[in-house]
Amino acid sequence: MLDHRTIERYELGWLVVSVVLVVMLFAGVLGSMISETVPGFFGARSSYVDPAHLTGTPFATPGLHRNADGTLDAYIVARAFAFQPSTLRVPAGQRVTLHLLSVDVIHGLMLEQGNVNVELIPGQVANLPRTFTRPGTYTTECNEYCGSGHQTMAFHLVVEP
Ligand code: CUA
Repeated sequence: MLDHRTIERYELGWLVVSVVLVVMLFAGVLGSMISETVPGFFGARSSYVDPAHLTGTPFATPGLHRNADGTLDAYIVARAFAFQPSTLRVPAGQRVTLHLLSVDVIHGLMLEQGNVNVELIPGQVANLPRTFTRPGTYTTECNEYCGSGHQTMAFHLVVEP
């Protein structure tokens, strides 16, 4: 026969369990909100560029930039409804750091080559160091619904041997 003290202990136990579950739920929601603001997850770091003031930033001249030390940086601007440049040529086997920026609404870019899958949040630069090994032309489209021209927003990656 259970006395009331035992029953209270059970109640207290289940009360703690339910409070812990609610706390975990909110922590999960909060955690996903935080990670959502950081474009790309694997190896990505983000920084901010004001989309209204691209002048003076490398995004004013999008495309592949070869630095004095030989390293490569690719600056890609996403806007409704095009990527600039729409075709990016990179040499195979050489490390290229992709810098992606949306200047209006949320766009997305997914490249199977190089394991790129990034949500482009306006103003937040996604920085992705990648090495593309297999030569070829890889065509992809914007990966995040962005408006009436979404399906026409194509991007071509040409990996040159
Ligand atoms: Cu840009 Cu969909």
